[in-house]
Formats: sequence, structure tokens, C-alpha cells
Amino acid sequence: MKVAPALSAAMLVGTVAAGWISTGQPLRLHWTSTVQATPPSADLTLPDRVVSVETLREGFVTYQRRCAGCHGDEGDGRGVSGVGLSPPPRDFTRGAFKFAAVPSGSLPRDEDLARTIRHGLAGTAMLPWSLGERELDSVVQYLKTFSPRWRRERPPPLSELATSPDPWRSDPEGAIREGERIYHREALCSTCHPAYAPVAARRPDPGAPVMQFEPAYNTWVLSPDFRRHPMRAGRTLDALHRTIAFGLGGTPMPTWQGALPDRSLWALAYYVRSLTPSW
Ligand code: HEC
Ligand code: HEC
Repeated sequence: MKVAPALSAAMLVGTVAAGWISTGQPLRLHWTSTVQATPPSADLTLPDRVVSVETLREGFVTYQRRCAGCHGDEGDGRGVSGVGLSPPPRDFTRGAFKFAAVPSGSLPRDEDLARTIRHGLAGTAMLPWSLGERELDSVVQYLKTFSPRWRRERPPPLSELATSPDPWRSDPEGAIREGERIYHREALCSTCHPAYAPVAARRPDPGAPVMQFEPAYNTWVLSPDFRRHPMRAGRTLDALHRTIAFGLGGTPMPTWQGALPDRSLWALAYYVRSLTPSW
């Protein structure tokens, strides 16, 4: 029976013609949105585990429903709703991630991806998603199908990533003072981020932060001004400590763990938080 294909071809021609007539413009067809993404057909073998095809299929369903609109069917960040967003949706085929408690450049651990999905990235189109544990885990596993990096490398083991608990809990004011000193005099965060008053009076501000091109993400970024820009990973002390300790993968924001004692990293988290607005 050739009726169905002939009918749909006729309907397509009709739709294009109608589009042309009604707008006076040639209709631009988005073929990607009409091509059905195919569900995974095999297990995914990672260096330290095998993810079953059943889990991947569950992740695929969630991804198609909730993520593909921005991140694209192929995970390349080119979903129909993602075009033109700033910052752009992450391109998962590059295997590069920013917000993770691993040294800059390593693959994130499952809990890092789950945290980002659960909390979202403040001030961006990446919203917080309230998914059940199983749904969350399956979509995390499914993301790994997009880049071959996951089949070759494993994220660092938790034992290498140990950080100490916040030592400043009983002295938050002392932490802010110490953080301010380290920020301006020791770590020189203000070579990239702004230098704030009153220190600015003593050390001239090098100027407004400059946009830099990030090849890993094929986009431009700005070192945030903590007084004005939303902290994407959140402004809790835990989140700021994590960002400062581990840096943002594939960006100029360095990993400070190892370069400064953990006590100083916590003090920096207090100082940065004191600069951020509480909304
Ligand atoms: C409305 C658009 C939109 C939707 C829908 C969306 N995201 Fe995102 N996502 C973004 C944007 C934009 C970024 C990049 C933010 C940035 O660079 O600061 C991002 C970043 C990410 C990151 C990268 C985090 C990192 O450490 O680099 C992950 C992982 C992610 N999204 C997963 C998901 C998952 C899973 C879903 C579906 C449950 C989803 N996203 C749905 C827009 C979206
Ligand atoms: C070499 C330049 C550079 C230095 C030095 C630097 N940063 Fe950054 N930082 C950046 C850039 C660039 C970004 C934004 C990266 C992006 O958006 O991809 C950033 C982002 C951040 C963020 C934002 C995270 C979020 O959730 O949005 C925090 C917090 C931060 N830096 C703290 C610090 C502190 C504290 C220091 C000093 C210990 C420091 N940075 C030193 C370049 C730098």
C-alpha cells in the first residue's frame, strides 16, 4: 500500500504551501524536530560499571520529555528551545562540565550531575527539576551516552576529594575578615573578579571583568561580580566552598584545593557570600 506515504507527502507539500501563502515568507522547516530520536538499544559499558539498557531507556524517556527541548535530541545543546539562550544549554557531546566537586577538567561524579539537575543553575535557563530518585539516576546515566569520554575515563574516587567540615561555624565574622584578606592579598581573586571597597581604595581595581572565550563550551563567559551576578551553583556556604575548592571545569576559574588550606577556602566562601545579595 503506497497510500499513506503519498498522503503524508501531499500533506507536507500542502503545509509548506500554506506556510508560504500565510506569511509571505518561505517556510523554514526544522527537520530535527520531526525526526524521532531512537531509544538506546544496548547496555553502556563504563570503566567501572555497566548501565543496563533498561535504565538507559528510562533515562531516554525523561530526557526526551524534559531536557531535549534545550539540550537537543543528540545532546549537542541545540534543542529547538535552546537556540539563543545565554548561557547556552550544555553540549553533552563534549563531555565538559563546570559544577562538580572534582578537580577542574575531571569528569563529574553522579552526585554532582544529580545535584545540578535537582537544584538547577541560578540565573540561567537550567531550572531545578523535582524528579524521583530512580528517574534522576536514569537520566544521569543516559547523559553519559552522549560523549565517548565516559566510556574511557572515570571520575576521581571520593577518597581523593576529601574536604574538612566548616571550621568557622562559631566565628562567621572572623571568617569574613580572614576571607577578605585572602581574597585580596593571598589568592588575588581580583586578578579576574572585581576588587571591592574598601580594599579597592588601597589597590586599584583592574577594571570591569572582561568577557573571555571558553573553547570547551564554545561560548563567552564573564568572571562574576559577586554583588550583582547570581551564583549559579547557589550561595550557600557549602556550594561556594565547593566552587572555590574545585573550580569550574573547562573555564579560567581555577581549582584552589591544594593551593590553599581548606580553612582558607571556607573563609573565602564566607567572604564571597557576604558580598552576594540575599535574593
Ligand atoms: C530551558 C532549557 C533547559 C532545560 C529544559 C534543561 N536544561 Fe540543563 N542546562 C540549561 C542551560 C542554559 C545550561 C547551562 C548553564 C550554565 O552554563 O551556567 C544547562 C546545563 C546543564 C548541565 C551542566 C552542568 C555542568 O556542571 O556543567 C546539566 C548536567 C544539565 N543541564 C542537565 C539537564 C537535564 C538532565 C535536564 C532535564 C531534566 C535539563 N538539563 C533541562 C538549560 C536547560
Ligand atoms: C584566572 C581567573 C580567575 C581567578 C584567579 C578566580 N576566578 Fe572565580 N571565576 C572565574 C571565571 C571566568 C568564572 C566564571 C566561569 C564560567 O562562568 O564559566 C568564575 C566563577 C566564580 C564563582 C561563581 C560560581 C557560580 O556558582 O556561579 C565563584 C564563587 C568564584 N569564581 C570565586 C572565586 C574566588 C573566591 C577566587 C579566589 C580564590 C577566584 N574565583 C579566582 C575566573 C577566576
